[in-house]
Amino acid sequence: MMDRFPARVAIYEVGPRDGLQNESRPVPTADKVAFIDALSKTGLQHIEITSFVNPKWIPQLADVVEVARAIERRLGVGYSCLVPNRQGLDRALAAGMREVAVFISASETHNKKNVNKTIAETLAAFEEVIGPAREAGVKVRAYVSTVFGCPYEGAVDPKKVVELVGELRARGVYQVSLGDTIGVGTPLQVRSVLEQVFAVAPVEEIAVHFHDTRGTALANVLIAVGMGVSTVDSALGGLGGCPYAPGASGNLATEDVVYMLSGMGIETGIDLEALVACSSKVAALVGHELPSKYLKAALGARARKGRAA
Ligand code: HMG
Ligand code: MG
Repeated sequence: MMDRFPARVAIYEVGPRDGLQNESRPVPTADKVAFIDALSKTGLQHIEITSFVNPKWIPQLADVVEVARAIERRLGVGYSCLVPNRQGLDRALAAGMREVAVFISASETHNKKNVNKTIAETLAAFEEVIGPAREAGVKVRAYVSTVFGCPYEGAVDPKKVVELVGELRARGVYQVSLGDTIGVGTPLQVRSVLEQVFAVAPVEEIAVHFHDTRGTALANVLIAVGMGVSTVDSALGGLGGCPYAPGASGNLATEDVVYMLSGMGIETGIDLEALVACSSKVAALVGHELPSKYLKAALGARARKGRAA
């Protein structure tokens, strides 16, 4: 089972989007820009910066255009954003985005509450997004949410996940990220879902997106990378969750997954010290401690060293 560890794993940082969309304290636009610019210097090569959605639904990201225009685009870093529909794509293109991500849930109720459409209507709306984006030379990623469980419907049939992965690939997305939106997934379930998904998609086109609500995210990553998955989504400090998914807490923390992978000899290209410096600043911005265990240990060690000096 665990014999396909890749030599390198790409971390897809979603803190500025999946993290900040769930924070109650408003973060000023200039601070978001500084946060993304600091992330760009940590060695991360993929950063999801914001969402071109209806600002009434996600007021935390209402400054999407200003953020997309103001960040410093560093060579070698890909900057992406969520878009739910054609209006989102047009706004993203106008703001200079070169990568977008569409999103759909594997359960009807979550999908309806998240984007006010059925799953079929959402797929139909993607016709106006994926093709035109690709024609404009823009990369398109996709998320399938509620893969491992739905806050409204409970268990989710993996067949629905497999079907959606197939539909999304047929429409031309370059990668599908499998989302454990409310952090209920467990390791053998992850193995089973991935085995079924690999029947319709090559491992290189699959990413995993775990929320750490119940403490299973790292174990789930271990299973996924052991099966050859080489893109893992995470959020700095363990920020975030989905506001339309009751019970969702933080994403898997970037520091924690980078620490685990580098200890296993798997390259991420990311400087952990630089991540810790970023996280400390972000904790001050959102006004609360961040859940990352690596971060807590690093800050604790620093404080002890300071006292001893
Ligand atoms: P709707 O109300 O059905 O949209 O919302 P509509 O087409 O009927 O239009 C209504 C209004 O929305 C109109 O404005 C449109 O212009 C506006 P009005 O005339 O009332 O002034 N509108 C837009 N404005 C800005 N940008 C747009 C846009 N589209 C329409 N793109 C809609 C449908 C999809 C827009 C809405 O449901 C929405 O914005 N949802 C946001 C959902 C969201 O962002 N959820 C969180 C992200 S998903 C997630 O976190 C999971 C993930 O992390 C993976 C995982 O963890 O599993 C990805
Ligand atoms: Mg998420």
